[in-house]
Amino acid sequence: MELYNLILKRRTIRKFQSRKVKKDILKKIVNSARLAPSAANLQFLEYLIVDRKELTQQVFPHLSWAGYLKGRGTPQKGEEPSVYIIVLINKKRSKNPDLRDVGASCENILLASLSFGLGACWLGAINKKALRKILNIPSFYEIDSVIALGYPAQTSRVVDSTRDIKYYLDSQGNLVVPKRPLKEVFHYNSL
Ligand SMILES: Cc1cc2nc3c(=O)[nH]c(=O)nc-3n(C[C@H](O)[C@H](O)[C@H](O)COP(=O)(O)O)c2cc1C
Repeated sequence: MELYNLILKRRTIRKFQSRKVKKDILKKIVNSARLAPSAANLQFLEYLIVDRKELTQQVFPHLSWAGYLKGRGTPQKGEEPSVYIIVLINKKRSKNPDLRDVGASCENILLASLSFGLGACWLGAINKKALRKILNIPSFYEIDSVIALGYPAQTSRVVDSTRDIKYYLDSQGNLVVPKRPLKEVFHYNSL
């Protein structure tokens, strides 16, 4: 898919098929993260892929889904992601990591995933202490985010909205995500 259309099409997905994601696809996704822009090219980010069932089952309870949907956005039994990418900051590589690197790298992950037909949810509301323990993550790594991945079992679409920011479910249970209209954010030569 052409990049512009891919960017327009990308939406957060929180319900997944149980089908596994092949390791070579996961490698390509991390490759796209590795090559993201990096302030001073410090490249302090690393990625822990978790797809072993006994681990994904332990990770799941430590993630918070779709705060605005009050429980209705949490994947139900059989809809859980089949893979997690744990986004790690290697503190040996930078004492003062520029978090804009995380944004660039995670967006590459989301778009590369979509190009392989996968849905994804970037999660910041995570229990880092519990994840560190379950996944045996040494203290010189800081856990930044988790990206949940899998083949999608949900659709989501955008509506233009000046005021509303809360995503919601329509009458068919599909996600609707308000986004500020282009004319409101596009400033040309002056504000
Ligand atoms: C830094 C960051 C943290 C996020 N954390 C969560 C989270 O903890 N749980 C969740 O369900 N979604 C999370 N999201 C997804 C947002 O809710 C989602 O991007 C937003 O509602 C807009 O929807 P869209 O991605 O389809 O454009 C996060 C997104 C970002 C960028």
